[in-house]
Amino acid sequence: MKALVLSGGAGTRLRPFSYSMSKQLIPIANKPVLEHVLENIRELGVKDVGIIVGDRAAEISAVVGDGGRFGIRLTYIRQDRPRGLAHCVAIARDYLADDDFVMYLGDNMLPDGVRGVAEEFTARRPAAHLVVQRVPDARSFGVVETDTNGGVLRLVEKPSVPRSDLALVGVYFFTSAIHQAVTAIRPSSRGELEITDAVEWLVRQGAEVRATEYSGYWKDTGRVEDVLECNQQLLDKLKSSTAGDVDVGSELTGQVVVGPGARVVRSRIRGPVVIGAGTVVEDSQIGPYVSVGRDCVLRDSGLSHSIVLDGASVSQVSGLHLSVIGRSAIVRATGSGQHRLVVGDHTRVEVVA
Ligand code: G1P
Repeated sequence: MKALVLSGGAGTRLRPFSYSMSKQLIPIANKPVLEHVLENIRELGVKDVGIIVGDRAAEISAVVGDGGRFGIRLTYIRQDRPRGLAHCVAIARDYLADDDFVMYLGDNMLPDGVRGVAEEFTARRPAAHLVVQRVPDARSFGVVETDTNGGVLRLVEKPSVPRSDLALVGVYFFTSAIHQAVTAIRPSSRGELEITDAVEWLVRQGAEVRATEYSGYWKDTGRVEDVLECNQQLLDKLKSSTAGDVDVGSELTGQVVVGPGARVVRSRIRGPVVIGAGTVVEDSQIGPYVSVGRDCVLRDSGLSHSIVLDGASVSQVSGLHLSVIGRSAIVRATGSGQHRLVVGDHTRVEVVA
């Protein structure tokens, strides 16, 4: 079996971060989503992984390279612009040849893995084997109707009135039967070749399409709220380790990771918290549920349930909560009695009234 990872897309729902970085590189518990994805694929025993990339190809290859670090062989496949998930399968046709493959959306997090579903697919080899989960509001997902035996009866992409609460998780197992389906469908009303339509085509042709209801944790990290929630979920499994310096004036409780070269001085860290390499935390209260990237500075500040990306600094600001602070961003107090903001497009600032 091969894998096809989708790592293009504009990521408009993840602005402003997606203006300057690929949405698949947003860190969750200090590791890019895409790395979590590649590790899950490796766990399935899959070694040959095609990765669909768009404008941010260089940035993605700078992080995951040839895949050697994950024990896989990565092949980059360029998409000129986002044209839909089924278009990704079409341009990967030569790479995939007639092999079975797992298609994995590069912004989907399933920390418990998909080994169980992979085994079901391999044992029976239906034309498509989908992963689904019940959601309170299915309108922003592909929606699946199944019979009582896990057979798929119908699929619709983002219906305004969903006929079931079973959403398509961004992991799909296919045999080569999918290739005929992607050539048979036409672009949807949003102008994209939808994989949902291709699978629906298979169902209508009488091919076997199955679905497994996934009981583990799943998050499409499409929005900032999802990223924060997922960060919290992963930090719950954090195990303490200290490679940096923690001075005697600091107190660490719960699970705390202090990265190499990081320094914690006169601070209280309430885990789970992960502090990246080279970061300095001084006179601050951090946690719970905080991920701080590399080479950040947190001084005289208080921060909980948040993510700080590499190189950012926060000084003399307490009470930061559910915040995401971008790379090399500066957040600090002023003595002027007035607020001063220099914020980018589609940024959100919420201050205490
Ligand atoms: C895509 C699929 C959708 C699926 C979702 C899962 O939507 O089109 O069927 O439910 O991924 O994350 P997107 O997130 O690209 O809007």
